[in-house]
Amino acid sequence: MRKPIMAGNWKMFKTEAEAVDFAKKIKPLVADVHDRIIIICPPYPVLSKMCDELCNSNIALGAENLFWEDEGAFTGEVSGPMLKAVGCTYVIIGHSERRQYFGETDETVNKRIKAALKHNLYPIVCVGEKLEERENGSTFNVVETQIKGAFKDISVEQWDNIVIAYEPVWAIGTGKTATPEQAQEVHAFIRKLLPEEVAEGTRILYGGSVKPANVKELMAQPDIDGGLVGGASLKVDSFVELVKY
Ligand code: 13P
Repeated sequence: MRKPIMAGNWKMFKTEAEAVDFAKKIKPLVADVHDRIIIICPPYPVLSKMCDELCNSNIALGAENLFWEDEGAFTGEVSGPMLKAVGCTYVIIGHSERRQYFGETDETVNKRIKAALKHNLYPIVCVGEKLEERENGSTFNVVETQIKGAFKDISVEQWDNIVIAYEPVWAIGTGKTATPEQAQEVHAFIRKLLPEEVAEGTRILYGGSVKPANVKELMAQPDIDGGLVGGASLKVDSFVELVKY
């Protein structure tokens, strides 16, 4: 059985005061939830304060990216050991916004995954096609290339706790969710691409305009194991509704 995950990707939203306020409010509202994993991935500057609020709760903390070196002259980057030290358990890698605006490639995604695993951070690895790729029928090719590139030279023994997120780029922040059938089709395809030994146990999250109104039908699909949520994770009530779908 794959325990479902509901993860909030806060992107570039919330100051420290706003983040702490969110944490204080949500903690008691989900304290009784133990049959699914709850993760919040806020921006770097608030991680430490968020850990003060959440690290002893049933809400895990994640970062939105990491660099592959442990330390060095890499202005603007943060490393695995730094994220561990502020209480992160998870780290998002290869989000489409990183690919689109910051030159992330399958090769750099692969390096970041290896760095995360080296430091016992669980990677949440994002893949997904753009609108024109869906329209020209290359969704499966694109996703296969991304998955193969991301997990190059990752052995089955290292695989524990790797999470994948399928996020069709055309569904992110657009209000246009993939239908449960569209998402299920790609999730099942991704699972078939994984090493046989780990395929059944790996959680594949869906991301792209997940909301309280559509979460149930998405989660009813056999290969959808949770959500990676942007906009709807920024408000306490909608994120609680998603957690308790
Ligand atoms: P939205 O839920 O705002 O569409 O964002 C999805 C996403 O990019 C999560 O990583």
